Amino acid sequence: MAASLLYLFLRLLFSCWILPFRAYCKIKKNGFGGPTPSFPLGNITEMKNSNNVNDSSSGFSGISHDIHSTAFPYFAKWQMIHGKVFIYWLGTEPFLYIAEPEFLKKMSSGVLGKSWGKPMVFKRDRMPMFGSGLVMVEGDDWVRHRHVITPAFSPTNLKAMANSMVEPTTMMLNKWATLISSGQPEIDVEREITTTAGEIIARTSFGLSNHKGRKVYETLRAMQITLFNSNRYVGVPFSKWLCLKKTLEARKLGKEIDQLLLSIIDARTKSWDGTPQKDLLGLLMEGSHVDGRAGKSLTIRELVDECKTFFFAGHETTALALTWTLLLLALHPQWQHQLREEIGQVIGDDDEIVYARLSNLKKMEWVMKEVLRIYSPAPNAQRQAREDIKVDDLIIPNGTNIWIDVVGMHHDPALWGADVNEFRPERFKDDNLYGGCKHKMGFLPFGFGGRMCVGRNLTMMEYKVVLTLMLRKFSFSTSPNYRHSPSILLSLRPRHGLPLIVQPL
Ligand code: HEM
Repeated sequence: MAASLLYLFLRLLFSCWILPFRAYCKIKKNGFGGPTPSFPLGNITEMKNSNNVNDSSSGFSGISHDIHSTAFPYFAKWQMIHGKVFIYWLGTEPFLYIAEPEFLKKMSSGVLGKSWGKPMVFKRDRMPMFGSGLVMVEGDDWVRHRHVITPAFSPTNLKAMANSMVEPTTMMLNKWATLISSGQPEIDVEREITTTAGEIIARTSFGLSNHKGRKVYETLRAMQITLFNSNRYVGVPFSKWLCLKKTLEARKLGKEIDQLLLSIIDARTKSWDGTPQKDLLGLLMEGSHVDGRAGKSLTIRELVDECKTFFFAGHETTALALTWTLLLLALHPQWQHQLREEIGQVIGDDDEIVYARLSNLKKMEWVMKEVLRIYSPAPNAQRQAREDIKVDDLIIPNGTNIWIDVVGMHHDPALWGADVNEFRPERFKDDNLYGGCKHKMGFLPFGFGGRMCVGRNLTMMEYKVVLTLMLRKFSFSTSPNYRHSPSILLSLRPRHGLPLIVQPL
């Protein structure tokens, strides 16, 4: 008994103290500074304390888009002291923080997509959501997954998915019309759009035509709420035991989802006649049938994880892009008019939206990019080195956790100029790709390199379809009840929702 306890203690000491400290010493050799950590929380206490002070909560008149210093005050403060590359700690995990595009470019230029890892600490934390889906998988497995998944997002396949976006949006807009006519013009558009985007991603991922699809969707939503609506201490040893009830609940929901998806896949396999259903699951199953050589297809377990991955990676991000857009359009009615005018010219009033015309919505594209710059729904990207990486004379050692502060770069006046915190979609008029950013790695709404977001074209299409339908029917203006407090809960969201005054046109 005593020997087992001693063994356990030594193992703990090794994994929670000696290993991270050794990793830290290796990175530190390069001369990077950083805030002083404490054991076992690292720098989490300072991060949480500075966030509590920063619930800005003003009305519309006091809105500032300088969200790096309000949503991530600790990063803004550490940057001033330690520069744009430094080390900070999440619990007992050291992270190399990067908000310097040139450093990022040099670091990533020699590393292939398949050679990047994802931090183990996040893999464990997000296992119920992503399993071994594309977001988390590495090495040759990542190549295989990406190879099967990329064609599912081809323009022809996306075109077939456009219709599954119109019905849920129309239902939402009809509900808004009813609310308004019953005297309730103030609507929390964040809640509404998140629900609709969830419905859309479920339809495009695995179909909602039968009760099993709907049950998967409802259980996925429940799991997301269980996992992320609680105080979390990622990186702190045994933190899951502190929220044991939630951890067990998420595990139970995860098993339920797996069973439901397995039975959907099983039913489709049994009735397989060579014509896939035109959702992502159908296309992946077809990919596996067509390219079914060993080593090229996805296993059933992997198909399940990919369905969950699409849901979690694709639903809230798209919903938030649309939500922040409505905030900015409510604040800038002249842009609302311009987009409505463009919709009239390009799409017209037809009930059916012609997919091929969407690419002509240029101003809408500038607006989307400017929204993704200011309120990036994916506020950071993460990597873990799986080999020693050379950056000039420095060595980033194998195993280093890397934290890329996307919001930090999107709000850096040195990259964007003095008007960095202003909403100016026209930045993308002359420079459609980078919006005039002084460094090509300074604008990363969809990540970078081989691991760039695989769903970005799907998102672009959904954004255009949903915004077109909304702007054709309604105008949006500010409500005195809105409290501006962008906060991070996996994605960057309005902490108190987004109530807007919605008026039929
Ligand atoms: C506004 C919407 C979206 C944003 C801002 C966004 C952003 C991102 C970012 C930043 C990454 C990480 C890239 C990196 O680490 O370099 C990513 C990866 C990914 N996204 Fe998205 N995404 C969006 C929509 C979607 C949608 C609609 C889907 C799928 C239906 C999706 C599926 C994925 C997947 C599977 C990955 C992992 C790719 C890989 O590692 O190979 N995303 N996304």
